[in-house]
Amino acid sequence: MKLLDKEMSKGLKGDAGTAADVKMYPTFVGPLPQQSDKEEFLVLEVNLPRVELALVRLQDHNASVIESENYIPTTGVQLDTLERLSGFIAMCIIKFTKKRKPAGKEWPLALIFPFPCQHEGPDRACLVKWTKEVTCNDVEGKELHGLIRGALDKTIVHIKNKSAKKITIVAIINDTVSTLASAAYNNPDCKIGLVVDGGLNACYYENGTQTKCLQDEKVMIINTELGALGENGFLDFCRTNYDKELDECSSSPDSQILEKMVSSMYLGEIVRLVLEGLTRKNLMFRSVPLVCNLFLRGSFNTDYVIEIESDNEGPHQRTKQILDHLAVKDYTDEDVKNVRHVCSIISERAACLSAASLATLINHVNLSPVTVVVDGYMYQRHPRFQVMMLNKTRELVNPELKFHLVGPELKRSIGAARIAAAALRSGNSLTDTPGATQDRGSSHTEPEKPSQIGL
Ligand code: GLC
Repeated sequence: MKLLDKEMSKGLKGDAGTAADVKMYPTFVGPLPQQSDKEEFLVLEVNLPRVELALVRLQDHNASVIESENYIPTTGVQLDTLERLSGFIAMCIIKFTKKRKPAGKEWPLALIFPFPCQHEGPDRACLVKWTKEVTCNDVEGKELHGLIRGALDKTIVHIKNKSAKKITIVAIINDTVSTLASAAYNNPDCKIGLVVDGGLNACYYENGTQTKCLQDEKVMIINTELGALGENGFLDFCRTNYDKELDECSSSPDSQILEKMVSSMYLGEIVRLVLEGLTRKNLMFRSVPLVCNLFLRGSFNTDYVIEIESDNEGPHQRTKQILDHLAVKDYTDEDVKNVRHVCSIISERAACLSAASLATLINHVNLSPVTVVVDGYMYQRHPRFQVMMLNKTRELVNPELKFHLVGPELKRSIGAARIAAAALRSGNSLTDTPGATQDRGSSHTEPEKPSQIGL
């Protein structure tokens, strides 16, 4: 907690290019109005390789997702270059808007982009680096608004579809920020958003005046990107050899060190490495065949961890099915119990590290009472994660501060639409001119099965 707090202060004071592990990116999102005129927004969420589009309506105090749809690339198509990725995103937008008409003259679009970005304004952001094992060439360091606008314009020419002309990107938003904006709609005490998903990250309303980024703005949401803690080696004292091996084999070694100990993208693989290590030391699965899926990288995903920990203590039926599926033969009852034990230790460590991160933020924000919205796969799906995290956070938060953890009541696309509405109203978003690639710039319907899109 001390290390994170120190890195957060460093990140806040310097510009984001400093050596702070935790960059504390200003988002240009301030306090949001509790109501709005009748407006409709397109919200595009990029969770690669999946892209979700939603049409969100705001009216007075109400907000609803009118329609939404998921898209994935056609089997075999890799989104591994800038051109393929931006082309795919443009096609998804065009497909979604094709059969619909904008409420006004244009479609204002909010982009939820869950990766570290350096903002120049609400609608202008450069991708700093890919995280969560995404690799796509030539996008890091690029300004996203211009990329998507350019891809839309190109697609208009190719497929002679004019609908893309009417799309105006008005906000680019981190997933933690849209989650916070959704929760703060009905709960103005909500000042912190935490996501424990494929990645680990948090954002909060900063009102410190001492920070360089907030000279003109009094209150602004800061995207901490705290999952990066440890990149300078600060967490080496509590990393195991399994953590180090996982990091070395990842697509981004030495990066996102805390995230790699916590998030669902990595937990299953940590468990697998521990089980493999114990097996090779002849401490488990004594008669396991040498060629066995358990020894294959990526064969043990985080769903398994969740299923094993949700399994019935007695018969351990599901755990046995998973071991059979991994071709682990002749396991004993003790092996089965030990698998569960390893899963629970790794999950508990993840919950404690998430709690320590959250408690640091709650202490930093120093408001009482304060509400924290928590979202993400680990938090929502794991049978004990919520309780473990809540108990540990209680131990670690300053005793005089009261806090509540809440789950997301509304979809995060609603928060994104609120931010887009505020950006439009304040005139802060830089308008984009179709054709000019050099831009200056719960009432939800569940999305259906993703449609596949070719390029
Ligand atoms: C990764 C991304 C961050 C995102 C988080 C949760 O940490 O870098 O931007 O918020 O995952 O999706």
